[in-house]
Amino acid sequence: MKVLVVGSGGREHTLCWSFKRSPLCEKLYCSPGNAGISELAECLPFAVNQTDEITEACKRLAIDFVMVGPEEPLTLGLADKIRAAGIPCFGPSKEAARLEGSKGYMKDLFARAGVPTAAYKRFNNPEEAKNYVRSIGAPIVIKADGLAAGKGVTVARTIDEANNAIDDAMVKLIFGNSGKEIVVEEFLEGEEVSFFAISDGKTAVPFAAAQDHKTAYDGDKGPNTGGMGAYSPVPAFNMEMQEQVMREMIIPTVNTMRTDGTPFTGILFAGLMLTAKGPKILEYNVRFGDPETQAMLPRLKSDLLEVLYAASKGELGNAKLDWHDRAALCVVMASNGYPGEYKKGSVIKDLDKAASIANSFTFHAGTRKDGNGNTTSYGGRVLGVTGWGSTIADARASAYKAVDSIDWKEGFCRRDIGWRAVK
Ligand code: AMP
Ligand code: GLY
Repeated sequence: MKVLVVGSGGREHTLCWSFKRSPLCEKLYCSPGNAGISELAECLPFAVNQTDEITEACKRLAIDFVMVGPEEPLTLGLADKIRAAGIPCFGPSKEAARLEGSKGYMKDLFARAGVPTAAYKRFNNPEEAKNYVRSIGAPIVIKADGLAAGKGVTVARTIDEANNAIDDAMVKLIFGNSGKEIVVEEFLEGEEVSFFAISDGKTAVPFAAAQDHKTAYDGDKGPNTGGMGAYSPVPAFNMEMQEQVMREMIIPTVNTMRTDGTPFTGILFAGLMLTAKGPKILEYNVRFGDPETQAMLPRLKSDLLEVLYAASKGELGNAKLDWHDRAALCVVMASNGYPGEYKKGSVIKDLDKAASIANSFTFHAGTRKDGNGNTTSYGGRVLGVTGWGSTIADARASAYKAVDSIDWKEGFCRRDIGWRAVK
């Protein structure tokens, strides 16, 4: 098969790394890719939102299968365009991608499908939202309805904080139209887990769970980021919970979406809170997680390309995935200053030393080759260094050994990835 991966992050590098090992993969393309991906795949020049150009390229290159990494092109209808060209694509339609694109739509779907989640109300008027906040009290959670680059959620500790978040979103429009409508939601407490399931529109099979580290600095301090590291499996999330989540959340979601006439083909990424009353869902994303993917795929024994291709054709059946009996842990290296302002263009040295560390692999995110063939930084999150081993502690040791062999003064990482699992 000729395969195209759409995206340029660590998640996409990991997908390319997995696909490249599949005997089904004859030729691999990625658009737009990064410096690491260019060693595995031929990179095309199109940004992920150039959906018409990507579709044209698929026809011209006679691509057999497309895997879409990020949510943006999905919400723009890339999967619909590729399927309309007769090419199987793993990723939901524009309609089905509303599950991530609109929190209000998602919460209403939870209510209709009976999926356990935080109590909520939708608002398009700031005064009504504030009255509701006053009636419930703090802590309380305020969420912009639309996509807001991961910044649309405020966990408000006080009523003042909640009111400010309402004004920011609905009056000052700091997220543009994405915040004209909001969801006000019950505050839930517990450990957070990212759980993934694959659906072909008719049925779903469990993939795996991972735990992300969202804040920038050690001890879960500092501003929120896209994710500073992850590990998998998650000891706090046992098989019984997985079965419960499949039964109470994933299967009802897939069934409801199919009955609605908007079947979901792709990966369901459930952001779970393990509360004292059992797992509840905070949100769905309609794509693989980043950096969760970098911590899950090195554990996978099955042929990922075969499974995703089957799902894209509606032929998942009762596929079962095989996993290595190992743990994996990914440490993200980010540019100094991230998630605030940072500089691009510094040279990352000694990646070859990292490559020689056993049981590890360095996935690239924001990297580019300069004119001299050096790998340089080109984004906030720059590398995802994954280690694996028979325990999470072994995986962590391999990951940090590889991290420590990389010479990049302009970057930083957390030193405590996996702390909940390794005391
Ligand atoms: P989301 O974008 O919905 O995943 O929210 C971002 C983060 O906000 C989550 O990872 C949680 O840490 C936190 N959060 C979201 N909803 C809630 C809630 N109902 N209760 C407590 N924390 C929440
Ligand atoms: N790591 C969280 C996400 O991919 O959204």
